[in-house]
Amino acid sequence: MRDTETGMNISIVILAAGLGTRMRSKRAKVLHRAGGMALVEHVVAAARAIAPADRIVVVTGHQAEQVEGLLAPAGVRFARQTEQKGTGHAVECARAAIPENNGLLMVLYGDTPLLSSATLMRLRDEQASGDAGATLITTTLEDPSGYGRVMVDASGNATAIVEEKACNDEQRRINIINSGIYCFRADLLWKYLAEVQPTNPAGEFYLTDMAAILTRHGHRVRTMHIEDARELLGINTRMELAEADRLLRWRKVEQLMLSGVTIERPETVTIDTQVRVGMDTVIESFARILGNSEIGQDCSIGAGAIIDSSILADRAAVKPYCVVGDSRIESGAQVGPFSRLRQNAEIGRDARVGNFVEVKKSRLGVGTKSQHLAYLGDSEIGDKVNIGAGTITCNFDGEKKHKTKIGDGVFVGSNATLVAPLELAEESYIGAGSVITDAVPRQALALGRSRQVVKEGWAAKRKKK
Ligand code: UD1
Ligand code: CA
Repeated sequence: MRDTETGMNISIVILAAGLGTRMRSKRAKVLHRAGGMALVEHVVAAARAIAPADRIVVVTGHQAEQVEGLLAPAGVRFARQTEQKGTGHAVECARAAIPENNGLLMVLYGDTPLLSSATLMRLRDEQASGDAGATLITTTLEDPSGYGRVMVDASGNATAIVEEKACNDEQRRINIINSGIYCFRADLLWKYLAEVQPTNPAGEFYLTDMAAILTRHGHRVRTMHIEDARELLGINTRMELAEADRLLRWRKVEQLMLSGVTIERPETVTIDTQVRVGMDTVIESFARILGNSEIGQDCSIGAGAIIDSSILADRAAVKPYCVVGDSRIESGAQVGPFSRLRQNAEIGRDARVGNFVEVKKSRLGVGTKSQHLAYLGDSEIGDKVNIGAGTITCNFDGEKKHKTKIGDGVFVGSNATLVAPLELAEESYIGAGSVITDAVPRQALALGRSRQVVKEGWAAKRKKK
């Protein structure tokens, strides 16, 4: 992308090869999730705002297949770092995958998920507007432990970055820290990167040594100081992961409220980053809306409801404590409280699904009602159907799943057992308590139960015995 303002090409390298020892995990750190996405996905999303996908190179190593599989749909490039010898070595590994080696080269770490694209744009513009060899983002932390400390000269240029492990007592007290976000003049980075040597207590190639190396060769390294340190949070431990998750979710509810969504007790809800919610929808406390769910306008989502990867059309209502996954609810439909929808359940316009009703791989037509205690699986249910309390579709014969088709306007009495494969034609009636195994024709009444027997005076006779 030739940025019109600066006229300079920009490429971005994202380092994501490390295991993340301090996480104490079998999974690569950048795959851990916060705000509903893997850490590295957040970084790629921020990078995408300033560079096209084919100018973004992600360096992978630990669980490279998983990281690459996750990010491949974004269209970014990959470079492998088979042995993790440090951040400087990781950048070197990306060299061959970068389309051009002039212009600007930004380096980001895959474990800083709160980074915003606005900050990256500012960094790019700061670097492009001057003659510095590089610009790096710094901030001041009350507790800088774990971060590299930045040595700054009188005019605000960085002269060196010292990693915590290599700090002497005086350096350790410095609280200006390196965020790990840099924009280099690409030609200078490639020219001098080989001067980075593993001469530190950890024996790693530290990219941070570039500050001192560039300074030594007479190139200024500017600092871009940011007041709000939260955006720069680097995740090294599970506590920091929880903190990032909390911040990302707060960011999300703020955005939604600003765009016209009412959220009751917003600190209690969990809404993934990718979720979309329309105006005037009301979300009650402790709701969870996950994955790529899309919620329309004027919807309501009750307390404690969980909605995952599902679509709600405008004016749909999900009442408290429903669990809805991979499903679709049409406009005006009402679901819950305590309903479970899964695997492509489709609830038609103005339909009603009530408490303790489970709907799996089934479609309910317009205005159809199933208000209490039912299991509807592998079913095609027409419009204006009434499903009585306790109705069960017996869709599984122990080996295979079978379909139930119910036509428009059918009335299914309470506690009906519908043994699939089965077809109930339009406007037919099923008597309460029936076990139905054979097709029912249009407008017929089907009864599948034994006749009631009444024995007059039976109790009195029994007592005499
Ligand atoms: C790094 C910086 C430190 C800074 C901090 C900010 C260095 C030497 N130190 O420290 O100055 O304050 O980030 O968060 O750069 N990675 C690789 N290959 C490697 C090593 C790391 O790809 O060989 C990746 C990791 O997956 C991670 C990122 O680089 O995403 C940063 O590595 P990490 O070990 O977390 O560095 P810090 O010790 O946090
Ligand atoms: Ca880190």
